[in-house]
Amino acid sequence: MRLRIRGTGSALPAHCVTNDELSRIMDTSDEWIVSRTGIHSRHISHGEATTDLCVQASRRALADAGMDAEELELIIAATVSPDDYLPNTGCAVQSAIGAVHAVAMELNAACAGFLFALNTVQAYIQAGIYRKALVIGGEVLSKMVDWEDRSTCVLFGDGAGAAVVEAAEEGYYFFCQGSDGRKGNVLSCRNRRVCNPFVSEEKALSEKEKQDYVRMDGREVFRFAVRTVPEAIREVLQRGERTVEEVDWFLLHQANERIISAVAKRLKVSEEKFPMNLDHCGNTSAASIPILLDEVNKKGLLKRGQTIVLSGFGAGLTWGAALLKW
Ligand code: ACO
Repeated sequence: MRLRIRGTGSALPAHCVTNDELSRIMDTSDEWIVSRTGIHSRHISHGEATTDLCVQASRRALADAGMDAEELELIIAATVSPDDYLPNTGCAVQSAIGAVHAVAMELNAACAGFLFALNTVQAYIQAGIYRKALVIGGEVLSKMVDWEDRSTCVLFGDGAGAAVVEAAEEGYYFFCQGSDGRKGNVLSCRNRRVCNPFVSEEKALSEKEKQDYVRMDGREVFRFAVRTVPEAIREVLQRGERTVEEVDWFLLHQANERIISAVAKRLKVSEEKFPMNLDHCGNTSAASIPILLDEVNKKGLLKRGQTIVLSGFGAGLTWGAALLKW
């Protein structure tokens, strides 16, 4: 049995922030941001929580699939920006949409999160454990970036995307994935430190005051992405015994236009096969692939039977690719 995507959905906060608006509140410019990243604007939460966006995207994906939430057996929500430590985002979505028969969980693999969640569902389907699942990527990164650090805050946006998937006899789904925890510092955002009545009062106080934001070594991320993504895509194509020429669409994590162009060049594939939405969404981490998937689906670009490659990469470091029949 193979995973087959039956429906997609996405949700973006209504509030859109252009580069010019950013340049009025910090020392940056539309020219700098567009030339370095390809980003023109991004949607920023005006109060919408990660769960709100995930729920909206999920309802749209279920409607697109023509599936009732009660049919779902599994929900995996990928995020690095959950609303709460507890309960997990998957359970929060489960409750909101009434997926009473599903088991729900959250997965954090940063910008590769949606892909890792999809791969996990494929493994469950292949093992014959579940047949119908909802896979979500949702983020409100605007609460995690340092709005005084122009080198990071201009890159990110908020949003969510979801896919309803089902076990199918026909088709194919191959994947490869990897991680390298030794490179954790390249892209990070630290959580609470140890702070309890048994640590010294001075330490407890100072730890309580500390708040961290997303920190990134942009050049290192760039080098990692342009090296690793083509390798992952070649590996998954080899597993599926297909060539790059046979792929109709490459849907990559939307971090940076220059990264996507470099990957296309290395694979010797026309950039036209690499749809992008980072111009109006920015980098939405785990949400970027499912938002893009929904956009190209709703535009009617995806035709049943086509060959699609997904590839994600991000903090961890984490990376991977999937080859599937639409
Ligand atoms: N506006 C204006 N100037 C800026 C801005 C800004 N928003 N941000 C940084 N600068 C300045 C810097 O201060 C620096 O100035 P200086 O030379 O006077 O010191 C100059 O621009 C160059 O800074 P760099 O960080 O070296 O800029 P670079 O050309 O490397 O571009 C970027 C930065 C776009 C992040 C690049 O490294 C990149 O594309 N990295 C890939 C990483 C990425 O896209 N990450 C997204 C999130 S990670 C993920 O999704 C996996």
